[in-house]
Parts: sequence; C-alpha cells; structure tokens
Amino acid sequence: MLVNPTKRLCYPDGPIDAKVVFVGEAPGTEEERVGRGFVGASGQLLFKLAAGHGIMRAECYVTNVVKERPKENDIGHFIQFKMGSAYPTLWYEQYEKDLHEELWKTHANVYVAVGGVALYALTRQSAISKRRGSILEGILRHNGETRSIKVIPIIHPAAALRQYNIINLISIDLKRIAEESHYPELRLPARNIIIKPSFLDSLSFLQQCKESRIVAFDIEVMREEVSCISFAYTPAEVISIPFTTNGRDYFTPEQEATIWKAISSIIEDPNIIKVGQNIVFDTTFLFRKYGISPQGTLEDTMIAQAIMYPDYPKGLDFITSMYTKEPYYKDEGKKHFKIGGPEDNFWIYNAKD
Ligand code: URA
Repeated sequence: MLVNPTKRLCYPDGPIDAKVVFVGEAPGTEEERVGRGFVGASGQLLFKLAAGHGIMRAECYVTNVVKERPKENDIGHFIQFKMGSAYPTLWYEQYEKDLHEELWKTHANVYVAVGGVALYALTRQSAISKRRGSILEGILRHNGETRSIKVIPIIHPAAALRQYNIINLISIDLKRIAEESHYPELRLPARNIIIKPSFLDSLSFLQQCKESRIVAFDIEVMREEVSCISFAYTPAEVISIPFTTNGRDYFTPEQEATIWKAISSIIEDPNIIKVGQNIVFDTTFLFRKYGISPQGTLEDTMIAQAIMYPDYPKGLDFITSMYTKEPYYKDEGKKHFKIGGPEDNFWIYNAKD
C-alpha cells in the first residue's frame, strides 16, 4: 500500500461483500477533511440519485483510484488523457495497483466507474462521455492473476454540478446499474448479424423483410454511391449487404439489379413500417439515385428523440446507450472501414454521424 506521509489519505468504506462497488477518481477537499470518499457536494448528489433507484450508500462499497487529494484538486498531477491516450505517473500506477489489490477482496455484481480515471483504471478504456452507461468487461489484477468484472461507467457527478442536464444522464445509468446489480455476468444483446452475404442469402433475407410488418434500414454512402445497406426485421436479425469490396463491385450487375429491385419492393411497400435514423437522408438519397419512392409510414429515431428529449443528443450512439444494452460501438468502424493506405485516407461518411 502506497503511503505518502505528507498527505492525509481517504480510505474506502462500505461492506466488502457489497453487490455494488463505486470507484471514484480521488478525494476532494471535504473527503480529505473527513477521510471518507464521496462525502462532498458531488458525492451527496451521486448517492441522492442512486437512492432514487434503490441503491443505498450504506449497502455499497465506496473507494477511489487515488487515495490522496491531488494538488489544486487537479487529477492531472497523477494522470492525463490526450487524444485518446493516457499518460499515468508512477504515483498513479502505484495507486492503481493498490486499488486492484483492494478490489480483489470484493465480489460485487457491478463495479461503477465514476468518471474517466476510474474507467481507465478498471477497463483501460477512455472517452467517458461516449462509454457512459455501457456494460463493459473490466479486469482486476492481483499477484499475476486476473479476474473479469462487470463495469458500468457513469459521468462524474462533479460535472453535473456545473451542467444541470448531466444529472439525467447519471440517473439513467444508475437505473441500469440497479438492474445489473442482481447478477455478475455481462448479459449483452444477442444479435445474428450477417455480413458479406452471398447473393442468395441477401435475397432470402430481403424476402423475410418483405414479409415483416416493420423493418429498420440504413445506408452507408461513399463517394456519392451506396457502399452498403443494412436491414433488420427484429432487433436480433440483421444483414449488411455490401455493394463494393476493396474498391470493386461485390455483385455482378445482374445480381445487383435484382437486389435493388427487392430493396425497392420493401421501401415502396405501403404496408411495411420503415424505421431509420435520419431516414429523410436515406430515402432522399435512394430516391435521387434509384428513383425509389418510399410509401407507408416512416419512423425516424432521430426525430423522435429530438421531440421527446430536446435537451439530449440525438445521435445514434447516444440513443443506443439510452434504450439498449448495446455497448458503445461507434469507433469500431474506424478499425474496419479505413480504405486503402495512408495515401487513401478516405472514410465512409454518413449524414447521421
Ligand atoms: N470525487 C471523487 O472522484 N471521489 C470522491 O471521493 C469525491 C469526489
């Protein structure tokens, strides 16, 4: 255990067999005075919101990554994040090692990473505002052994003291944490996602869509062409049909024409409800490019969100975090869709990004 003799340390508290563990960043002035975590304004806010979802502080184990109050209350003296990379100091690393040893004795169903530093300490991930509410796998390390834990990050309540509407985001995530506190496993949505389908697989999936009352679809546009189109007829049954691969056509012209006919028969079917994110973009593009004229009901998740929650973001990543248990996915495309080498630094773009 690291001990800095010039500092007053703030110790963990709560039952070691708690179902929920809260891990904060570092104590503030009030925590340093009392010697206990989350007793100041942000901690009081956090546990008031938690109590609203049945999570009682007395039943939780509460700790911090860094156990001493950083100079000027600035955690940057221990760790900094720049352009998605972390720059920890040796002091930070020692505190993090101690934290893992401390948490090794706990067996909670959910570990709440309060803010970006705790997220990094438990999962090695960054970008708290993107990952808040995601159900993530964390790894505890102790004496050369590792153990997998379920981590849900939330935005630090200190941010909510400055920006009021963050309170609601923390509250939404605490509701999920309360649900997830009943079991330790990561129960993520099961999806059957068909990628790189054959011509016949594509047609048979589109036929399933044609027989459905409601389908979701989405196009990706690259260089003013539809590079791929995705359909789903349930949250679990999904296909992504590409039209190009490595700069070449994926199908023969005849096959592609047949597929577009099947697509237009779905989009032009007045009995099929079509769901999309900013669906005006997709339908306008398809009309201009292929003369596909949508009929029947179009339901737009972006517009619905903007009407219901005008103060919240309306991007698909945020909507996904609010209504589904799909972990944050938006940066995955950066790994998969970069085209060519450095000379061809062109990214798939989408009006909904
Ligand atoms: N902020 C934290 O991250 N931890 C505390 O204990 C108090 C404020």
